[in-house]
Amino acid sequence: MATNLRKYIVGLDASVPVRGGMRPYINLDNAASTPPFRSVLEAVDHFSPWYSSVHRGNGLKSRLSTEAYEEARQIVAAFVSANSDERVVIFGKNTTEAINKLSYRLPLKKTDIVLISHLEHHSNDLPWRARATVKRIGLTPEGGIDRADFVALLDKYGGRIKLVAISGASNVTGHIPDIHWFARKAHEAGAQILVDCAQLAAHRPIRIGSLEDPEHLDYIAISGHKMYAPFGTGALIGRRDTFMRSEPEYRGGGTVNLVTPTIVDWAASPDIDEAGSPNVIGAVALARAIKTLEQIGLNTIAEHEAALTRYALTKLKEVPNVTVYGEIEPSYATGRSGVIPFTVGNVPPHLVAAILGFEWGIGVRSGCFCAQPYVMSLLGIDRQTQYRIRYNLLHRRRDLMPGMVRISFGLYNTREEINVLIKALAAISEGKYGGYAVDRANGSYTPIDDTEDLSAYFKI
Ligand code: ALA
Repeated sequence: MATNLRKYIVGLDASVPVRGGMRPYINLDNAASTPPFRSVLEAVDHFSPWYSSVHRGNGLKSRLSTEAYEEARQIVAAFVSANSDERVVIFGKNTTEAINKLSYRLPLKKTDIVLISHLEHHSNDLPWRARATVKRIGLTPEGGIDRADFVALLDKYGGRIKLVAISGASNVTGHIPDIHWFARKAHEAGAQILVDCAQLAAHRPIRIGSLEDPEHLDYIAISGHKMYAPFGTGALIGRRDTFMRSEPEYRGGGTVNLVTPTIVDWAASPDIDEAGSPNVIGAVALARAIKTLEQIGLNTIAEHEAALTRYALTKLKEVPNVTVYGEIEPSYATGRSGVIPFTVGNVPPHLVAAILGFEWGIGVRSGCFCAQPYVMSLLGIDRQTQYRIRYNLLHRRRDLMPGMVRISFGLYNTREEINVLIKALAAISEGKYGGYAVDRANGSYTPIDDTEDLSAYFKI
């Protein structure tokens, strides 16, 4: 299966220098960003000679580019089963930009409540803090979103809750909430729901649903760079009626029907929401990635990644001193995504990540994964200690910041790669690794004998 799926991806045959030789590179950092699909690179290559300005030019290349851009919009809409009468697809950079946009386009007052969960990454937290009053749904002991607490908060705050904003899958623990259950409850309470699908779109089918369906999602956000299309485009897909109201947060070319020194007549969405020249190549790349994901089949991908997750959780249990956070039961692998956070005894997480990178050729992410409240809760860090951490950061001691190591699977990862990871973690757990120097101000570790020259691999 995986051997078959590997052919879709670019760059999997890279070997990298590690202490004592060369190793095949193993990328276990797909929650941060995925490598490109081969089909995406080909589409960008085929499209580039035809690239030109969209919406404004009359030349053949402009007409063709405009058509490609609008076709990409339709492909994104179809991907989440969005009906274009009710929904609009707005292209932007990524989910962070999409959520910020929504925070501006919803008519929120500071006293309105946006209900988020305690597991949200900063991008689905900070935009809401700036625009409304944020309340947080608590966690279950396994680190999932606590449904009972959600219901209690709906009861408590009732009509003040304008929006429920939750992740479709956690970027820290891989928790997948039943988003349609949350949607039904939110709607019953008179609120709308945003589901941040950054960590879901490349791993599970998504259905936004018709507005008549009580379980529909009002808004979803996706990022191309987490869907094998790292060309700078993501999308916000949402209720058309929301974007017919109010003024845009960015103003400029393409957003208007008429401008005189005294008149501004705004265009309809998506135009009003895509100020300036759009990233057409990024949209083509995203749409091509969607077609490839559909060709492989989201259910096939989900099955493969669940098998990897089950295997990894089983093997991680066997490594001394490794603590896994979140839902740790291998048998639950199909109910979550393939994102697994862990620590290795008292070895600092950034050091573990450095050893994996410099000695084993394995790419992972370490730290708090832009989800500090969640990671600190999972680690049991109390408020007092949070102030201590702040003090440390103010004194340029990022190395004292707590965190975890995270592996995250893509559709192309294999059991063999997990076996290498497990071997590496066993060695780390036994203290078998080289000497490292820590940069206290930024918290990173490098081998004391480091001579790496990255320009040997790529230079612009
Ligand atoms: N949210 C991204 C991650 O989890 C950046 O790595």
